[in-house]
Parts: sequence; C-alpha cells; structure tokens
Amino acid sequence: MAILLDMTRSHVPVLAGELIDMTGPAEGDKVVDCTFGAGGHARLMADRIGASGTLVCVDRDPAAQERFDELAAEVSCETRFLRMDYADALALLHEEGFRADLVYFDLGVSSMQIDARERGFSYSYDAPLDMRMDPTQELDARQVVNTLEERQLVKVMSEYGEERNARVIAREIVRRRQKAPIETTGELVEAVEAALPAAVRRRFGGSSPAKRVFQAIRILVNDELEDLDRALPAAWSVLAEGARLAAISFHSLEDRRVKRFLAERAVGCICPPDLPVCACGQTPEAELLNRRAVGPTPGEMADNPRSSSGRLRVARRKKTGEEV
Ligand SMILES: C[S@@+](CC[C@H](N)C(=O)[O-])C[C@H]1O[C@@H](n2cnc3c(N)ncnc32)[C@H](O)[C@@H]1O
Repeated sequence: MAILLDMTRSHVPVLAGELIDMTGPAEGDKVVDCTFGAGGHARLMADRIGASGTLVCVDRDPAAQERFDELAAEVSCETRFLRMDYADALALLHEEGFRADLVYFDLGVSSMQIDARERGFSYSYDAPLDMRMDPTQELDARQVVNTLEERQLVKVMSEYGEERNARVIAREIVRRRQKAPIETTGELVEAVEAALPAAVRRRFGGSSPAKRVFQAIRILVNDELEDLDRALPAAWSVLAEGARLAAISFHSLEDRRVKRFLAERAVGCICPPDLPVCACGQTPEAELLNRRAVGPTPGEMADNPRSSSGRLRVARRKKTGEEV
C-alpha cells in the first residue's frame, strides 16, 4: 500500500504502509502505540480506526506530549497519552483490564530526538553528552563515559554496539578522561577517532566510526534492551484474542529479541516425535504473519535513509480453540 507521508513533519515514520497492511487496523479498533514519537504511525492508525476507535499513545519523552496534543485535537477517535516507560504503561493497561486489537512498537530514537542537538544523541553535532529519552532520569551519557570502569566500557561497546575495536576505544576514553572529563559528543567522537588506526578509520568511508559507540551508550543510558524484554510479555498480556503485535527494530539486538519472543509463542507440541499422542498439551499461542522480517523498499530507503535498517515483525494472538 502506498502511503502519502507529510514530509514536513520532523520524523518520517518507517515501514508505515507495511505496518498498516500487515496489522490491518479496522473501524472501532483499540490500538496501543508504544513509541509515539512525532505520531506519524499513530496518525495513520487514527485514520483507520475512526470515531469509534481508541488510540492509546505512550512515550517517555515529554517532547512527544506536545505532538500528541496536536494529534488529539485533529483526530476523531478516543485518545489517551501515557508519558512513561512502555513496559510500565502496558502493565498499567493490563491492570485496568484494557484489551487491545493491536499493539505496536517502533523502537529506538526519533529524528526529533537525534536532530535536537542539545540532547546529545548525535555524533554529527557537538553538544553536551546526554542521550536521555526521558530528561528527568538521572543517568546520562556523560556519567557513563566518565565513570564506567574500562572493562565495563569494553563490555557495553562490544555487547550493545557490536564494536570490534571496543578495547582500544575504551583505553583511549580512560586515558583522556584522566586528564579532564569528556563533556561533549565532539570530544567523544575525537576519542574514538584517535583510538583507531588510520587504515581502520578509512574503512568507514562517509559514515562515522563513532556510530556504534554512540548506539551502545544510548542503549545503556536508556536501558533499551531490558525495557524491551519487559515490554514484550506485557504487550502480549493486553492483546485480545485474534489481536496483533508488531515491532519495527533498527538493529540486530532488538530484532533478535522480538524474533525470539514471537517464535517462542508460535511453538506447538514439544513432545518427542516418536510419541504416538501428544502428552504436553502445548498449542501455539501466536501465528507469525511473517517468517522473515520485512525491510524497507529501495524507494523508502532513498527517500528516508534512516529507514534502511528498519525490520518489521508481526504476529497474531490466536483465539482460544483456534485450529493449529
Ligand atoms: C522511532 S521513535 C517513534 C516514531 C513514531 N513511530 C513516529 O512515527 O513518529 C521511538 C520513540 O519511542 C520512545 N521510546 C523509546 N523507548 C521507550 C520506552 N522504553 N518507553 C517509552 N517510550 C520509548 C522514544 O522516546 C521515541 O520518541
């Protein structure tokens, strides 16, 4: 489905047509957008569910609230904004007995956050090291870069950034911060570049060698992977029978978690194959609507290079007694 997007808004929603096509929001549906951002996906959902639908929007960034207020004034469905962590928001909805027809995540940071230079998410602008999605939380990137022990820095960059040069980069960060704290994104980029031999730096061509380091620190500051691990079961618990769960991830650490979570729910009988009748009684709770993650078309990537790493997975919660 081709979707006309308003390119003047600061965040262009990724895989929007694919998300709508694969989740099929209908008139009157109850939808939870766990990562509201600038509301690009939410607006498309609101159009589909109409005046009888309900749209719950979640984001922990107070900047998203302003965008939500604009959207709420323009759409006809019932709307609600929860400014909190998505795992907590889903737990709250579950407690309230809310049952959704669709829950979706569009993970990571928004362009609004990356392009707000003073928030220190980007290696492209020089700004104070911050990277907090929720500016009221205490831990920020400055503390991480200046207080983590060298071996912890190596671990974070290796695990969350899959950074092969983590050891030399951590050593250089520690060497520099012994003289003076690393305060800005520019100083962090300089430390990364100084740690790498020229031949390695050249391999990055036009992209920054600091990209993976920034990703790793951002994931740690915002506790992104732990949150996702808590949020997926919470999302599953608010799905009505026959409802859908969708997630758009932007790196393999997220996608792997989503894939594993959905695959585990799609598993049926686990009895040994030589057992004549099933003794475990386990039936699949989920139907995977795509076995392989769906990525952006070349056209979308050309229009919005930030979509390039987007991967969408969708599953449906089976109804009780539904044929396997
Ligand atoms: C990629 S953006 C979403 C963009 C949105 N789909 C749109 O079309 O504008 C991700 C958003 O999720 C929010 N977010 C990330 N992790 C979160 C969490 N654990 N709880 C709540 N919000 C979160 C971020 O603050 C950011 O605004």
